[in-house]
Amino acid sequence: MIKVGIVGSGAMGSGIAQVAATAGHEVVVLDANPQALQKAATALAATMAKLVEKGKITAEKAASVTGNISFVSDIQAYAGCGLVIEAIVENLDVKKKVFADIEAVAGADCILASNTSSLSIASIASVCKAPGRVVGIHFFNPAPLMELVEIIPAVQSDDATVAAAKALIDSWGKKTVIAKDTPGFIVNRVARPFYGEALRIYEEGVADMATIDWAMTQLGGFRMGPFTLMDYIGHDVNYVVTETVFREFFYDPRYKPSFSQKRLLEAGWLGRKSGRGFYNYAEGATLPEPAKNEALGQEICNRVLVMLINEAADACFLNIASREDVDIAMTKGVNYPKGLLRWADEIGIATVVERLDALYHTYHEDRYRCSPLLRKMAAEEQTFFA
Ligand code: NAI
Repeated sequence: MIKVGIVGSGAMGSGIAQVAATAGHEVVVLDANPQALQKAATALAATMAKLVEKGKITAEKAASVTGNISFVSDIQAYAGCGLVIEAIVENLDVKKKVFADIEAVAGADCILASNTSSLSIASIASVCKAPGRVVGIHFFNPAPLMELVEIIPAVQSDDATVAAAKALIDSWGKKTVIAKDTPGFIVNRVARPFYGEALRIYEEGVADMATIDWAMTQLGGFRMGPFTLMDYIGHDVNYVVTETVFREFFYDPRYKPSFSQKRLLEAGWLGRKSGRGFYNYAEGATLPEPAKNEALGQEICNRVLVMLINEAADACFLNIASREDVDIAMTKGVNYPKGLLRWADEIGIATVVERLDALYHTYHEDRYRCSPLLRKMAAEEQTFFA
């Protein structure tokens, strides 16, 4: 079994280390900040103790996972690794430097991977002497619990690198999907309208946020409403992802961020973690009640859902991922109640196109343009899946 190196012992690095060590690999975790390393070691021990206490794993297994991981400060520890996964700060210049440094110590057959959510794998790989060995391996938070992993080949990646990375991560019990090296990959791209269209509906005054959240959970079957979810993720993360995706897509209006969310970020109302976001989380604060108007709720739900389906269909149209992988990504990466393309089949693609066209006719905004794939499929009476 290969030795696995992890760079960065924050939320993602330590979670990925736990996954690799649980699969039986020897793992070395490096961080530039000794306190972060110490914190990760303490947190790992506490997680293992909790899993044993809950009866999820045996004491022997916990000891073997802990024993498999060493926390190091010397980059030479990567010599002999078969795979190094980088999970440091989301900054291209810092990542480039780290990749060049790692390549200088890692063996020629070592795969170098980045867990970046928003940077291009091609730009990271460009600093390596052998860019063919670089690939994106994008885990979701928390890595030990979330089954989905996006594998992102860069233009430079060798086929063998991609195949080996996919096979290895599959062997860790994860579900891998292959995504093109484009902004947001699959999940962070296709999910944008869940936030963006809900914000637009709210800004137009069609409904308040409690009613939108109620519609999406009670009528749509989503686990959390968009406003609750944005507060949960934190506006420092969720807003920044939206803004990055918008910019990286050369300002396609479909991804345009909203002022309502930007102002929350500017105010420091980051969501649950700061006690205030769209909702007030202070003790004793009363939460707003939804209107629970079924007709209005259904209208909201239909509008957000067709925008999500449009995004999923367009990702297929532009060959970002296969139909199967788009549906797997959204059910396993963000726990959607159904795959969006299967959902489109259920609603009927002609109906989806009709609803999108109605939005387009109302607003005359490019944001509501229907994917050519949906239009073609509706005309030919096709479905996404047999
Ligand atoms: P974090 O801030 O929790 O941890 C980053 C760690 O990297 C810190 O401990 C820091 O000391 C260390 N670090 C920074 N520069 C370093 C360097 N030059 N060498 C070694 N260590 C260095 O960050 P988090 O949330 O774990 O994110 C890491 C990466 O994973 C980012 O690229 C992020 O975009 C991506 N990601 C984050 C997700 C999330 O939900 N937090 C989900 C999926 C991907």
